[in-house]
Amino acid sequence: DVWNPNGKYRVVSTKPMPGTRWINLLIEQDCRLEICTQKKTILSVEEIIALIGDRCDGVIGQLTEDWGETLFAALSRAGGKAFSNMAVGYNNVDVEAANKYGIAVGNTPGVLTETTAELAAALSLAAARRIVEADGFMRAGLYDGWLPNLFVGNLLKGQTVGVIGAGRIGSAYARMMVEGFKMNLIYFDLYQSTRLEKFVTAYGQFLKANGEQPVTWKRASSMDEVLVEADLISLHPVLDKTTYHLVNKERLSKMKKEAILINCSRGPVVDEVALVEHLRENPMFRVGLDVFEDEPYMKPGLADMKNAVVVPHIASASKWTREGMATLAALNVLGKIKQYPIWHDPNK
Ligand code: DGY
Repeated sequence: DVWNPNGKYRVVSTKPMPGTRWINLLIEQDCRLEICTQKKTILSVEEIIALIGDRCDGVIGQLTEDWGETLFAALSRAGGKAFSNMAVGYNNVDVEAANKYGIAVGNTPGVLTETTAELAAALSLAAARRIVEADGFMRAGLYDGWLPNLFVGNLLKGQTVGVIGAGRIGSAYARMMVEGFKMNLIYFDLYQSTRLEKFVTAYGQFLKANGEQPVTWKRASSMDEVLVEADLISLHPVLDKTTYHLVNKERLSKMKKEAILINCSRGPVVDEVALVEHLRENPMFRVGLDVFEDEPYMKPGLADMKNAVVVPHIASASKWTREGMATLAALNVLGKIKQYPIWHDPNK
């Protein structure tokens, strides 16, 4: 699809994105916008090079694309100045290579914080209360009457939620679980974020003032402390060399036998082969996964595990958020090619 064919700046979007605000913004700012409507979900490097063509000022791309040396070289040859990843995570982008070719990289933080945290909360509840298993049971026509031990799961209230990575999303999730379900909190953050400390202190005072039972909370001094103590653990680190397979066989074995593990960050943060083995050996251990090591695939055996809830990387998929991400992605491109005021640099 081509919008505003006579626009001065050529901007390419490798995928259609929700809403029209991002399209209008680019058109109003004199851009010729080309949206790739190819049916294929994941575009190859060669296909993206073809989209960039001979002249391209900026590209809006997706987390499924491999933005490395080859693509930045092609964008630079075409006179490009900006690449905007429509995601907060940018592990698919080689920022050093972009810098080398003088191309600025943007991402879309903020607008997906609550939506992603809500999905982590939804997976937590689904795993704790065995919702997917129970739904399958009903649809299969197996329900023949109430039983005292039918789909007995975990009560979250009073249990401990462990958060690994207390940035924007991890902190929003922790707040939801503490405020919503009165869970105790333990968290670990590599960057010593103080977001959660402020919240839990204020919330503790609120509970006390209202004569309600306080929740306990602590900042762990190591990740393993969280794994050992928490009943429900949610992963929210960025994916980089230090967090690849952060949750491996050894760390899985440190968790409680009936713990629940949630991952809405990036698949490779968890060693998925080790996870499948752990799920097989520990039927009371449960997981809720939004992301996978080799998307779009799951490691063999995972799809057969009754103690796993799996969804296809939809944590940010609310209408409001996806339209917001698309708008930010467009603003990022404009920020570079037209010095538009908003610019999200993932390094800041
Ligand atoms: C992100 O933004 O990084 C999510 O994985 C997709 O919204």
